[in-house]
Amino acid sequence: MKLNINNKLIDVDVRPDEFLLETLRKLGYLSVKEGCQSSSCGVCGVLLDEKIILSCTYLTLRAEGRKITTLEGVRERSQYLVDFLAEEGADQCGYCAPGLIMAVMSLENEIDNPTEEEIYHYLDGNLCRCTGYKGQIRAIKKYLDLKSTRSEVI
Ligand code: FES
Ligand code: FES
Repeated sequence: MKLNINNKLIDVDVRPDEFLLETLRKLGYLSVKEGCQSSSCGVCGVLLDEKIILSCTYLTLRAEGRKITTLEGVRERSQYLVDFLAEEGADQCGYCAPGLIMAVMSLENEIDNPTEEEIYHYLDGNLCRCTGYKGQIRAIKKYLDLKSTRSEVI
């Protein structure tokens, strides 16, 4: 089958019972992390047609003809968020970061100017075993504020 990953069409052989997490990692998209494998932690999040899905429980066959985006595909777009996460001390081991960043990309696509409550609600599936989430939320708010300032200027 062919998969559209980060705007490239890629040929891949998959089993009927293969989940997208396994497919992406075997193709070298190692930003997609493996955690609970049961839709409970958020580390395997990728965008499917610009909205977050959990790749550990999404059958690869269902992704045919759709647009898959991993962190490797949003490096430039997410750079300010990465910088703010570092600035706010929001990363310790960093294992949760790729899934969190992808969830924020999806939040941006879905909700204009989200409230703090909406941000918490949207990200409540992204678990972090190291931090208390406060630094992450500060970084995300800085990023979203910057985005709205930049779009006002443009
Ligand atoms: S590995 Fe997919 S949600 Fe935890
Ligand atoms: S920084 Fe370690 S899991 Fe979040």
